[in-house]
Amino acid sequence: MASKAATYQERAGVNAPDSAIQSLAGRDLCSIADFTASEIAAVLDLAHTVKAHPGDFRWALDAKQLVMFFEKASLRTRLTFETAINTLGGSAIFVDQTQSPLGERESLYDMAHNLERWASVLVLRTYAHDTITDMAQYASIPVINALSDLEHPCQALADFMTLQERFGSLKGMHFTYVGDGNNVCHSLMLTAAQVGMHVTVATPRNYAPKAELVALARSIGNITGSNISVINDPVAAVTDTDAVYTDICTSMGFEHEATKRAPIFKPYQVNEELMAHAAPHAVFMHCLPAHRNAEVTDAVLDGPQSVVFDQAENRMHAQKALMLMLLGGLAGKGKEAASQHRLDARKEALK
Ligand code: CP
Ligand code: NVA
Repeated sequence: MASKAATYQERAGVNAPDSAIQSLAGRDLCSIADFTASEIAAVLDLAHTVKAHPGDFRWALDAKQLVMFFEKASLRTRLTFETAINTLGGSAIFVDQTQSPLGERESLYDMAHNLERWASVLVLRTYAHDTITDMAQYASIPVINALSDLEHPCQALADFMTLQERFGSLKGMHFTYVGDGNNVCHSLMLTAAQVGMHVTVATPRNYAPKAELVALARSIGNITGSNISVINDPVAAVTDTDAVYTDICTSMGFEHEATKRAPIFKPYQVNEELMAHAAPHAVFMHCLPAHRNAEVTDAVLDGPQSVVFDQAENRMHAQKALMLMLLGGLAGKGKEAASQHRLDARKEALK
């Protein structure tokens, strides 16, 4: 089992899917940059297989216990983790932490050393990103970030799975994010760099993604051939792009800024006029929940280019693949199924 503390560089040599299966077992997902490009490719590859052949993985995580602690509201993330683990043979326990932040009643260290005696995996949705990294440091079982103020890596996995469904190989394609340089933007930028897509982010001044995450995305892009640019002009950002993504202007925890933000983000609304600058085949993406006719118009959200409900569906498949990898669910029957489907796919490609 790989050390939980291994660095990106130490793992960068891993490139075969079987190596990824070994290297990911027992690991955490706090940031999407915790995984190498080849590890992300392996998770996405498995996600497509699991989506196409769910019955073959029906008992791959038999009796595993998923425990979720959420400090913030959720529809998709909670329910896709529950449906994912239930249909892999395990069960989920949900703990509502919206009334008291993690670490308040009991230290994270003590919680971790209790939880690792009962549970197989912890899934945390928090305000502070450090809550997730601290829990990951203390717990001997995998810890998954289900959204923090800094990142939303599970969302990004589902989103790039969705793009692969539409376009196949993503290398060299162009991904555009318009709006707030927030948690979702950070994970998308990092994942796009990992899959070799060029990225343009357009935000209002003072709402750019964090400089250290832009620098990290650029350092990944130097290896994968992806260019990352951060600008203020939404029209320039979407021109000829393959995918236009937006998120709400006011994330959870920033509600007190909603009135101030509304006029600042108005020029960044994704509407039909803005979408007309993208490539004709471009898709529109949103992590949801959307504030209809604020950051995106009904016409775009419900229009023919929108893939938002595919993204929502793929949360479940991507998280199944993620848990299969982190919980070693590909050790037995799951591994046979995954290998057989990889073989079938190769044979199909050679026809
Ligand atoms: N996209 C997403 O994470 O949705 P929820 O907040 O409903 O979980
Ligand atoms: N950026 C949003 C994403 C919700 C899924 C938030 O953090 O509230």
